[in-house]
Amino acid sequence: MPADDVMLRIEGLRKNYGAVAALQGVDIDVRRGEVMGLIGPNGSGKSTLFDCCTGLQKSDAGRVLLKGVDITAWPMNRIAREGRFLRSFQKTVVFPTLDSEENLVLAGQMSRFPSVLSTFWIGPAAQRRVKALRERARELIEVSGLARVAHLPAGNMSGGQQKLLQFASMLMPDPELILLDEPLAGINPILIEKVIQCIEHANQALGVTFVVIEHNTDVLMNLSHRVVVLHQGMKLADDTPEAVVRNPEVVEAYLGG
Ligand SMILES: Nc1ncnc2c1ncn2[C@@H]1O[C@H](COP(=O)(O)OP(=O)(O)O)[C@@H](O)[C@H]1O
Ligand SMILES: [Mg+2]
Repeated sequence: MPADDVMLRIEGLRKNYGAVAALQGVDIDVRRGEVMGLIGPNGSGKSTLFDCCTGLQKSDAGRVLLKGVDITAWPMNRIAREGRFLRSFQKTVVFPTLDSEENLVLAGQMSRFPSVLSTFWIGPAAQRRVKALRERARELIEVSGLARVAHLPAGNMSGGQQKLLQFASMLMPDPELILLDEPLAGINPILIEKVIQCIEHANQALGVTFVVIEHNTDVLMNLSHRVVVLHQGMKLADDTPEAVVRNPEVVEAYLGG
């Protein structure tokens, strides 16, 4: 694969917690523009893989390259700041007294201008930026199905609606890569559908690359272009969804007979 097509390269990643070998030398290439599904039994190392990619945990060996740049030793805040690289619901807060558009514009402004004071900057460039943020916010409100309640203070929206707003907030800073760790856990079927719509829109219309850990295999197989299976800290399969569900080793280790 040409280097330009690789968004995230994971090379020989190892991580031990005491006697537990959480990752035993994992290699994965995440291609630019794809939705990659990541599955495996509980304790197979999926979340640890995200932890090591985002700098939350330091790996014991191996490298992580983001668009060809070695970020293995970078501290977590530098990866988040310079990488345009996000983990699910990282740093997204819903401000209860603001409506949906205000929340989203603020999410966009805070990421670009981290100082609160700077959100009051004026001048033509700032005005153009705010206009662009408002347009993106309105688009995301439509896509996430929040139009009907968008005028409400976010604190008056349902828990599910707030979750969708959080999800939309993640897209405001224009990230290139998003890692989602079980984004559908504990949410109802209608909300699941809307979160999937948001992921698909972000992927297809905004070009965001995704890695999604999800136990809902049916949903994940539909959503993903490619699926990687982890088992006991090792990569068991890396293939199309169709091939993965028919792989006998995967069926035995994870999908069940
Ligand atoms: N912070 C931690 N401290 C100690 N052990 C951990 C920690 N995080 C994960 N583990 C262990 O590492 C293994 C892999 O866990 P994890 O990456 O959470 O798996 P998964 O997300 O696939 O369920 C498990 O045995 C788990 O108990
Ligand atoms: Mg996990």
